[in-house]
Amino acid sequence: MCGIVGYVGEGDAGQILVKGLKRLEYRGYDSAGVALMNGEMLIQKGKGKVINLEKNLVASKITGKIGIGHTRWATHGEPNDINYHPHLSESGKIALVHNGIIENYTSLRKKLIERGRTFKSQTDTEIIAQLLEEIFTTSDISFEEALQLTLKQVVGTYGLAIVNIDEPERVYVARKGSPLLLGIGDGEMFIASDASPIVEYTNKVIYLDDGEMAIVTKDDYQVKTIEDVKLTKEIHELAMGIEEIEKAGYPHFMLKEIFEQPRSIADCLRGRLNTSDSTIQLGGLVNVMEELVSANRIVIAACGTSWHSGLVGEYLFEYLAKTPVEVEYASEFRYRDPLIGKGDVLLVISQSGETADTLAALREAKAKGATVLGICNVVGSTISRETDAGVFTHAGPEIGVASTKAFTAQVAVLTMMAIQLGQAKGHIDNARAAELINELDSIPKKVEHILNESDESIQEMAKLFTYAPNFLYLGRTYNFPVALEGALKLKEISYIHAEGYPAAEMKHGPIALIDDMMPVVVIAATDHTNDKMISNIEEVKARKGRIISIMNDGNSDVKDLSNFCVNIPSTIDCFTPLLTVIPLQLLSYYIAVNRGCNVDQPRNLAKSVTVE
Ligand code: UD1
Ligand code: GLU
Ligand code: MG
Repeated sequence: MCGIVGYVGEGDAGQILVKGLKRLEYRGYDSAGVALMNGEMLIQKGKGKVINLEKNLVASKITGKIGIGHTRWATHGEPNDINYHPHLSESGKIALVHNGIIENYTSLRKKLIERGRTFKSQTDTEIIAQLLEEIFTTSDISFEEALQLTLKQVVGTYGLAIVNIDEPERVYVARKGSPLLLGIGDGEMFIASDASPIVEYTNKVIYLDDGEMAIVTKDDYQVKTIEDVKLTKEIHELAMGIEEIEKAGYPHFMLKEIFEQPRSIADCLRGRLNTSDSTIQLGGLVNVMEELVSANRIVIAACGTSWHSGLVGEYLFEYLAKTPVEVEYASEFRYRDPLIGKGDVLLVISQSGETADTLAALREAKAKGATVLGICNVVGSTISRETDAGVFTHAGPEIGVASTKAFTAQVAVLTMMAIQLGQAKGHIDNARAAELINELDSIPKKVEHILNESDESIQEMAKLFTYAPNFLYLGRTYNFPVALEGALKLKEISYIHAEGYPAAEMKHGPIALIDDMMPVVVIAATDHTNDKMISNIEEVKARKGRIISIMNDGNSDVKDLSNFCVNIPSTIDCFTPLLTVIPLQLLSYYIAVNRGCNVDQPRNLAKSVTVE
């Protein structure tokens, strides 16, 4: 999920790799490391910033002309010296760095342990090095063939750079679902996960596609598929500057992250949804399933966007698992001597895993005897360590201050938890589970469809509403929290005053605000409340409010009443938040850009709120 660099040439590889890793720092990561080959395999790592790796490297005085480097965003195993990349095979002859997640690593690891291999780290990555060595040393084939066989056995995503001490002139690379490119220099070759570490050396690059690998030497490269079909790849000329490259060509990190959601939701579901036998495997909850099944109630505590995903969670748990849920602002919960104790489950949600109020809420509930669970994006974060158990969202680093992909990943985790709990409690039979799990599996594709189909029209629509002084967002059931989230996104980045309401509450106050100046965003995508939403839209229309509807494809009743519509593909009602939030993120983004706001760093806001 983070960065890779590689170098083969005559230069000082250590320095070049460190410089390249610094170029990748914008992505956010928890550690860095390099492997250099110089007659022997030399490994150096550093906690936190690349500068720490650099200090260790300088102190160790190791050098080489060929090497691989990595910045890690941990998904499997805490950030510590053993888990930082590069990872070595058992003999120490093979070193590799990996971006991505290997889904079937537990079963592969078990097999390799049975064959006598010992593992040092808790990562999914180490199995690649071990499996590769196992295949290579137990059969009479080339290293390249062994790599191909290895890649056919691993399930998941990877960007990989590999060195083998017995082939001291080469770097092997491979890609599936995690970007990788080659930079062609003069008598030197570069490898990187995006072009930013390479631009200062060359503008000639080759982008690897999924299922491809390459063998790179200082003045040659050969690209082929892992099925061993040789390829002639186009050499692209880089026209972008570093800043554009960092944002993958998007003008802001926020937009990049909005567009990353098909991928980040898939990463979150990866290895956890089992469509073949209609089960959900949340490894992190295995040890607390009994407590969850017998829980009197679940209390969810969180702040901001995470609080909104918690509200979606309430609807999900009560509907699918029939467990009563309350959702609390962590800051309120901690100071009101809450009634919570043994038999209750407190579930805290935090992207960073460091949110001060949320941490305090968890400590309070823990002290009172509740089982405490977490949903966090950052592995090794304080909240993930202090909770009894939990689930990581695996959304990758989120740089934009306004949360987007972390929200959808949190909702995806809550959805999986609710289904798993519903199954465990006997409220979801196999047929229903199959229906739910297959549909959840299709959500990333549907998100992608929304992004492709509606980005332009939302951009156009945003022009008309850029100078609106107020916005109202209305939703019902699962989409009431999405209305709150849509309003929060707009407030955060465009500084327009916006309110989210359950649609029926409008009559109890906010309706007084509606006139022809008031845009009202209506989320009308849940079938069983459709008629009620139509009545609410009529009420707004009667007062000349302007209606922007987020609605299911083909809902002509809503369409006829609306000034603007964004269509979303239909899905099971309780999954709609994963779709309906996407147009709202885009709408707030484009309005903020039109207003000239600093989208990625809105005024007065911080990414991780570690103060009360
Ligand atoms: C975890 C391991 C993975 C291993 C798999 C199967 C990590 C990060 N993941 O993945 O290496 O292959 O089990 O055994 O090491 N947790 C909390 N609080 C939180 C979030 C997580 O306590 O807020 C705990 C979980 O209970 C679990 C661990 O952290 O023990 C990892 O969580 P997660 O990565 O979600 O679990 P798996 O996907 O099963
Ligand atoms: N899954 C690997 C790990 O946790 C790679 C993480 C990354 O992409 O940085 O070590
Ligand atoms: Mg409730």
